[in-house]
Amino acid sequence: MKKPFLPLALLFATLACSILQAPTLPTPFPTSTVLPSPTVAPPPPLRSLAEERGFWIGSAVSYEYLRADSIYGDLVAREFNLLTTENDLKFGPVHPEPDRYDFEGGDALVAFAQANGMAVRGHTLVWDSQNPDWLVGGNTTRDELIRLLREHIYTVVGRYRGQIAAWDVVNEAIDGDGNLHDTFWLRGIGPDYIPLAFQWAHEADPDAILFYNDQGAERMNAKSDGVYALVKRLRDGGIPIHGVGMQMHVDLYTAPPPGEVAANMARLGELGLEVHITEMDVRVGSEITPEKMHRQAVIYQDMLKVCLEANNCDTMVVWGATDRYSWLSERTSMQDAGVLFDIDYRPKPAVEALLERFELTE
Ligand code: XIL
Repeated sequence: MKKPFLPLALLFATLACSILQAPTLPTPFPTSTVLPSPTVAPPPPLRSLAEERGFWIGSAVSYEYLRADSIYGDLVAREFNLLTTENDLKFGPVHPEPDRYDFEGGDALVAFAQANGMAVRGHTLVWDSQNPDWLVGGNTTRDELIRLLREHIYTVVGRYRGQIAAWDVVNEAIDGDGNLHDTFWLRGIGPDYIPLAFQWAHEADPDAILFYNDQGAERMNAKSDGVYALVKRLRDGGIPIHGVGMQMHVDLYTAPPPGEVAANMARLGELGLEVHITEMDVRVGSEITPEKMHRQAVIYQDMLKVCLEANNCDTMVVWGATDRYSWLSERTSMQDAGVLFDIDYRPKPAVEALLERFELTE
């Protein structure tokens, strides 16, 4: 009866050896040498570190997605202490017919922000895009257009008086050469549409801080010179403008040099203007690699550093919270991966990089 013992033992030994020598095989069963994995504390929310430093870290939010996806809402409320109304308060969505406003999205976003202790940036009152057909298709005289824009601004800004802290009053009015863009508003009213819009927004909410917002004017170039000249004229003329928004839609290879962004912020500061980074995303192109994610993280970190070190910049807004719903995904089927959380709401290296930057700041 002892006979089978030796061959069996050999068989087991051989098996054990082959298992040990073949690291690609899965471990057959747990052993006492497997230690429980150490508990890793989850990273703190971005907003907690921002708040400790009196800083606003924001995301553009669309009611369309907030309404449909509570995981998205939880992410936004956990990570950000400010939201920008991405589309809901643009002229077309909010004023779809001459005598009808639709405040459903705007009201819901403001209520969401209040419920979660977040500030709101209102976006945007005067722009050449996303205007309703009844407006741009109409044969309107200059006087009618002035009346109409004043009524629009009074109605929208007035509704959220005391609830929307900052407004992008005029969006993208300067072209690449630094001149006034040929827009619907310029053609219809003339250059006065800009000071008039600021004046009316100020009358509708005297406590709101009012911004001129543009893209591609972050570094020192012809466009940012044009923006500087415009806002200087407005300031010199006593027009109520309080800040400039740097949109910061950039990619891995054309992100502006931090030193130039700092110099641009500084010259705007000398005019008594605040600067907000208002719409940041960093496109990485079609293929996502760890190297690209690292480079993206560095760009986010550099821009936060510039803002934190400037004495007139206390706000950085990313144009979306997750790649699942960012406008880049709308256009490029999620391949641009430009914001801070991926399509499964997981933080990218850029989040860690921002946390690290906050921690290095008093
Ligand atoms: C974008 C929105 O994110 C998209 O959902 C929409 O389809 C088009 O507009 N500069 C701006 C923003 O000032 O209003 C734009 O937002 C992005 C570029």
